[in-house]
Amino acid sequence: MTRFVVVLSVLVLLAAVFFLAARLVSVAQRTALPDDLAAAAQARVEERIRPIGRVATADDVEEDAPENGEPARRSASDIYRAVCAACHDTGAAEAPLKGDEGIWADRLGQGLDTVVQHAIEGIGAMPARGGASLSDEEVRAAVVYLLEESGQTVDNGAPEAVAEADAEAEPDVPAEPEAEAVAGDPTAGQAKFATCIACHGAQGQGMGIFPKLAGHTAEEIVDLLTRYRAGETVGPNTPLMAPQAVTLSDEDIANLAAYIETL
Ligand code: HEC
Ligand code: HEC
Repeated sequence: MTRFVVVLSVLVLLAAVFFLAARLVSVAQRTALPDDLAAAAQARVEERIRPIGRVATADDVEEDAPENGEPARRSASDIYRAVCAACHDTGAAEAPLKGDEGIWADRLGQGLDTVVQHAIEGIGAMPARGGASLSDEEVRAAVVYLLEESGQTVDNGAPEAVAEADAEAEPDVPAEPEAEAVAGDPTAGQAKFATCIACHGAQGQGMGIFPKLAGHTAEEIVDLLTRYRAGETVGPNTPLMAPQAVTLSDEDIANLAAYIETL
């Protein structure tokens, strides 16, 4: 009898041990993620711990380049947004903020050439050329843009050489860049407007938080879109609108404005 009890106890004990071991194995299997899931989780973690104000690299900028292999002619504001805004719009790395007139008046006190030279060579926490492969002219144009956006009058010997190169190619055209900028093509604008309808309505009539566009002059539309594109906060719902504007070229904006004016 005693022996029977002993044997039974041993069996029960063994059963318990097997049961626990089986559980352990199945838990381990469930917690081990398949490789691709693990990689995705890893990427998400990296995304979250990535430092803010990541420096856009030359590759980021080059994505905007035209496909025909021609050297990209980027406007000063494009360069600024792609490379400099990461720090100068956010204050990352304690960069002086765009729009802070006092700070930039101080900086400009050193003379434009010196300030440009610093941006080319790097200064303090700022990497040379903002960390991108920009030409001297492009850095200069971006500096001038940054200064002008910060309320400084810049007397630049070769202003906007990058942005205005096209305008200079046609000397007969009276130098009225503003008027020229809004002379868009309403038909092309209408085609482009297809992407705006979802929010602003087919007639630009607006709805709820999406403002009415009809009734604005072309100049107003150009001004607003340019500001959204430059990363400026315009109204309370700017985060919804800004991504729509960043991909627009100057020509797109002019065309859209010409079309919206007819609504
Ligand atoms: C990684 C962040 C970062 C990026 C990107 C960056 N800057 Fe800066 N920038 C700074 C910081 C920080 C300073 C202040 C450095 C100091 O004075 O110690 C600065 C200073 C400057 C100055 C003032 C120089 C002076 O002499 O006082 C100019 C002009 C400037 N940046 C222009 C640019 C332009 C144009 C770009 C884009 C091509 C750019 N920055 C990209 C961080 C950045
Ligand atoms: C995802 C929805 C959405 C799309 C798509 C969209 N917008 Fe907007 N848009 C908004 C919102 C929201 C605002 C208001 C933002 C704010 O508070 O500053 C706005 C504001 C504007 C304004 C300023 C109007 C004013 O009176 O202040 C203009 C101009 C504009 N959008 C033009 C366009 C154009 C042109 C397109 C197409 C290329 C477009 N939007 C596509 C959501 C959108």
